[in-house]
Amino acid sequence: MRKAVIIGAGMTPVGEHWKLGLRDLAVEALFNAMEDAGVDKVDSLYVGNMLSGSFVEQENLGALIADWAGLGNIPAVKVEAACASGGAAVQEGVKAVLSGLEDVVAVVGVEKMTDGWPSDATRYLAYAADAEWELFHGASFVALNALVMRYYMKTYGYTEEDLALFSVNAHANGAKNPYAMFKRPIKVDTVLNSPYVADPIKLFDASPVCDGAASVIITTPEKARELGVPKERWVEIAGMGRAIDTINLANREDLLTLRAARIAAEKAYKMAGVGPEDIDFFEIHDAFTIMAALSLEAIGVAKKGEGAKLAKEGQIAIDAGYPIQTMGGLKARGHPVGATGLYQTVEAVLQLRGEAPSQVPDAEVGLTQNIGGTGSNITVNIFRRV
Ligand code: COA
Repeated sequence: MRKAVIIGAGMTPVGEHWKLGLRDLAVEALFNAMEDAGVDKVDSLYVGNMLSGSFVEQENLGALIADWAGLGNIPAVKVEAACASGGAAVQEGVKAVLSGLEDVVAVVGVEKMTDGWPSDATRYLAYAADAEWELFHGASFVALNALVMRYYMKTYGYTEEDLALFSVNAHANGAKNPYAMFKRPIKVDTVLNSPYVADPIKLFDASPVCDGAASVIITTPEKARELGVPKERWVEIAGMGRAIDTINLANREDLLTLRAARIAAEKAYKMAGVGPEDIDFFEIHDAFTIMAALSLEAIGVAKKGEGAKLAKEGQIAIDAGYPIQTMGGLKARGHPVGATGLYQTVEAVLQLRGEAPSQVPDAEVGLTQNIGGTGSNITVNIFRRV
């Protein structure tokens, strides 16, 4: 069976890029990845993006970005799965390579969120939920996550302080990442004293609205050899899984189970021939601290109701049993929504090549988990050092 390896990775810093447009960000990340791989052309382009139509009034991103990059008349499309668009775009790129239809594929994730009004951002982000059944009744995306957080704390007896530990860990790692939006460590009190966005979610429980782009180049081991890319720079995409769940929370069987993440993780573990115990680091979707806790449970790292316990026990730091958010996660690196899955992928590549600013010692296998909606569309990818 064909295999797929990443041979190049690149990104832009995450932040408020008022001087760069969506296409500039995408092409900067893409060119960084192509330079890293040592290629000057690709067979196709997949663009992970969620909200270009709403924020920038620009759709048809495949053509926009491939044209701006001067890639010629290649096939190029946008892949959309809400905030999981990046993780899904990586999977579409891998599928193209594994199918044998394309040999060298570029995947770029991009989002430009900061050019408009904050109230517009709040509205657009809620399109990831069930806009007709949830947003229409006044529930923003943060509000929906706040309901889940409150129910989690009530059910299992956790406090806001317990959940804040995810944010503290993310900021500690983000402080060392030159590409992170927030490069300062914080304390639990920083989280607790920050203003409420939607009770119990506070400013420091939430990922920021921001801009950014990240990109990888995917090919087969045979082609990588032909291109002269040294084997120690290859990272295999060993497993992939994707699943959906009910789009609105009202129809969810259990509010505290990310069933789509569980199914996606099971598929990815099976394909890679590994289990959670074999994974050296986890880049999970901590858009809100509650999502970090639920994600750890869904991907089999913690038992149900014990995701936050893992943080309380100090198990999620770089040098602990289950390192998460090694370059800051969504909370500190930032969450340019459709680009996030690509940032997670680039970070996994850096860890597995031994080039991460906060390096997990001897990392061999890493997992990324990317959530679209309030747990309704989830991708899990597993990467292995070759
Ligand atoms: N964490 C920490 N600090 C943050 C922050 C965050 N998430 N978001 C903004 N800030 C800081 C800014 O840097 C700024 O600091 P400064 O005054 O020192 O420059 C300050 O807070 C105000 O920033 P501003 O951009 O005006 O914030 P805002 O009030 O417009 O937005 C949120 C804050 C939390 C409402 C917004 O970031 C948000 O909606 N986040 C959730 C995004 C989301 O739902 N994503 C999809 C999830 S899947």
